[in-house]
Amino acid sequence: MAFELVIKNANVATASDRFCCDIGVSAGKVVAMASSLPAGEKTIDAKGLLTLPGGIDSHVHLEQPGPPHIVMADGFESGTLAAAFGGNTTVMPFCLQRKGHTLRQALSDYHGAAEGNCHVDVSFHLIVSDPTSAVLGQELPALVEAGYTSLKVFMTYDDLVLTDRQMMEVMAAAKETGALVMIHAEGYDTIRFLVDRLERAEKTRPFYHGPSRPVAVEREATHRAISLAEITEVPIMIVHVSNREAMEEIARAQDRGLKIFGETCPQYLVLTEADMDREQMEGAKYVCSPPPRTSEHQQACWEGLTRGVFQVFSSDHCPYRFAEDGKLNSRGKESFRWIPNGIPGIETRLPILFSEGVKKGRIDVNRFVALTSTNHAKTYGLYPRKGTIAIGSDADIVLWDPEIRKTIRQSDLHHNCDYTPYEGLQVTGWPVTTIVRGKVIIEDGVLVDAGKNGQYLERDRSALLSSADLMR
Ligand code: URP
Ligand code: ZN
Ligand code: ZN
Ligand code: ZN
Repeated sequence: MAFELVIKNANVATASDRFCCDIGVSAGKVVAMASSLPAGEKTIDAKGLLTLPGGIDSHVHLEQPGPPHIVMADGFESGTLAAAFGGNTTVMPFCLQRKGHTLRQALSDYHGAAEGNCHVDVSFHLIVSDPTSAVLGQELPALVEAGYTSLKVFMTYDDLVLTDRQMMEVMAAAKETGALVMIHAEGYDTIRFLVDRLERAEKTRPFYHGPSRPVAVEREATHRAISLAEITEVPIMIVHVSNREAMEEIARAQDRGLKIFGETCPQYLVLTEADMDREQMEGAKYVCSPPPRTSEHQQACWEGLTRGVFQVFSSDHCPYRFAEDGKLNSRGKESFRWIPNGIPGIETRLPILFSEGVKKGRIDVNRFVALTSTNHAKTYGLYPRKGTIAIGSDADIVLWDPEIRKTIRQSDLHHNCDYTPYEGLQVTGWPVTTIVRGKVIIEDGVLVDAGKNGQYLERDRSALLSSADLMR
């Protein structure tokens, strides 16, 4: 019987290998890898391209409820379409528990929104904002068992912040059930103090978002999160690390043998605090938390990626329009305090890391694959089904043109946001063809299957719970 799909002349890079072969796909899985395979029902010649495991973006926000009158620009349809165009085959958005609600209520709404609307595969992290004993004692264990094996907690934001005691309750429950805890590490009280003081001094332009959340705020919270994790003896992932001091906190914890993991994002490699200082209200386009820092901190984030302090590189796609229902809501114009935090980046994550990392000689292509795909799969319980190209794995494959030069332009992107913070950035390398479980979704930069056949993925427990050495 013929293969459904054959990729000829595949120049494959995984997290650990480089080799050339033909790839045969049946029933959505890689079933053959050999020096020469016969043509399939569909055959693609990948000569001149790199053949990579599809990107996994384990930190995105889609259709997330927020403050009144503020709308997240991307739901599942546009968000996963942009993801596919950006070379991703799986994305992991956050399902947010509102205070007073259960996790199951949140999941029911969120599954309803995703169902039938996804161009790539999806799996949800939970956001725990109301860790009652019923939530932690009954709901969470059942949900972890059902494949929701990761959750995020926040050390800041009015609607989400947990006390240290609550953080420890969550960590203890996570240890019990085998969930991986992701932590947004910025200190709530310090930020409130600084925001109030800046406002009293009439320092309200978008630029002051940065000074309201300085490096020390993130370093302190990172240190505190690590301490709480050490005391409760539970592995944690510190997400969206922006600077040297937080990175060094994580590195020190790792050197002490603690299972502390780290993530950084494109905004911390190519944006700086100066972007929030752009004239008029343009600076609002760069307001995210933690804020972009300085070139010295960018350098530190690169070190985190090359030294193995950071295991995953995610977009933190959190799209708010530069318009009345987003960044420029009426109160946002009065003070940075009311500018919704977050920027879009689901389609540009891979090109930015490839161009700035691989092309500029900072990382090799294997490390690129590890940081953008394989380590996400291992961290969040999807490996080896996802995150590699191997016999038996899902045929989630991206064909990548390593030489094409592009200038990032909003007009070329597929998200539903009205701007990109990376406008004008020149990159070399871009995904041309995206294959999800053997189905070609994007071919030569054109959407060829709009069927929205993305599936929901139940996940195993994180591989990091048992062995941290799985990843560098
Ligand atoms: O500013 C950001 N990153 N907003 C998104 C929510 C989060 O904290 O990840
Ligand atoms: Zn966060
Ligand atoms: Zn954030
Ligand atoms: Zn986020």
